[in-house]
Amino acid sequence: MENSSVVIKNLRKTFGSLTAVNDLTLDIASGELFGLLGVNGAGKTTTIKMLSCLTKPDSGEAFLGGKSIVTESNEVKRIINLSTQETAVAPKLTVKENLRFMADIYGIDDPQGAVDRVINELSLGSVLDRKAKTLSGGWQRKVSIAMALVTSPRILFLDEPTLGLDVLARRELWNVIKGLKSKMTIILTTHYLDEAEALCDRIAIMTGGCLRAVGTADELKKLAGKDSFEDAFIEIAERSNGKEEAV
Ligand SMILES: Nc1ncnc2c1ncn2[C@@H]1O[C@H](COP(=O)(O)OP(=O)(O)O)[C@@H](O)[C@H]1O
Ligand SMILES: [Mg+2]
Repeated sequence: MENSSVVIKNLRKTFGSLTAVNDLTLDIASGELFGLLGVNGAGKTTTIKMLSCLTKPDSGEAFLGGKSIVTESNEVKRIINLSTQETAVAPKLTVKENLRFMADIYGIDDPQGAVDRVINELSLGSVLDRKAKTLSGGWQRKVSIAMALVTSPRILFLDEPTLGLDVLARRELWNVIKGLKSKMTIILTTHYLDEAEALCDRIAIMTGGCLRAVGTADELKKLAGKDSFEDAFIEIAERSNGKEEAV
């Protein structure tokens, strides 16, 4: 796999007196499915927005596939894509039209080939001619991920991919995400503990903009001295010393 690692160094973003992301330092390997886990307001979306060059950090740096988000954002944008919390699917276009639109605005060499590939990968055949607004939340989210995949990103960001979905739609999306595993680097944010545990190779726990711990679900359980991941999360999140714990 080409270099699709993510190296984050002291990344910081403030909004007035609020520190949304507080000197985040983190390395993510090529091909890893990495979870940023934290309750609402932890700083997950702000982190994703900085890494995907949608907003500038106040200080710090990050290198995606070796390219700097500060000085090489155009190069970074070429190798990433994202499916955001506010699903960016055009409601009045059909699924097929949404995908083709994405392929065309990115100027992909073989747009129809790229569209056909993701239709196949995500099994979208049955909804291709449906207007996006007529689809369920789960299907809309799937289409949003498909739109991000049209550009064959080396690094894919999924911001709360299953937010607000029912349990069956969540499981279906988990399968989609598992199917993408090791084909690209994936950074997923979630506040669902079971989702992080089921999907992610490693998990970073964030609270109040700070990184509290990083490791596999098993490592985090061991670190917290708990048998369940939920208990481990609560233990780590409620420790107030604010120091990162390496495992
Ligand atoms: N554009 C903004 N202006 C002011 N405050 C913001 C803005 N974006 C996020 N915040 C604040 O930053 C903190 C982190 O937000 P966010 O990154 O969205 O967290 P998460 O995605 O983990 O829920 C929150 O307190 C939020 O209210
Ligand atoms: Mg968010």
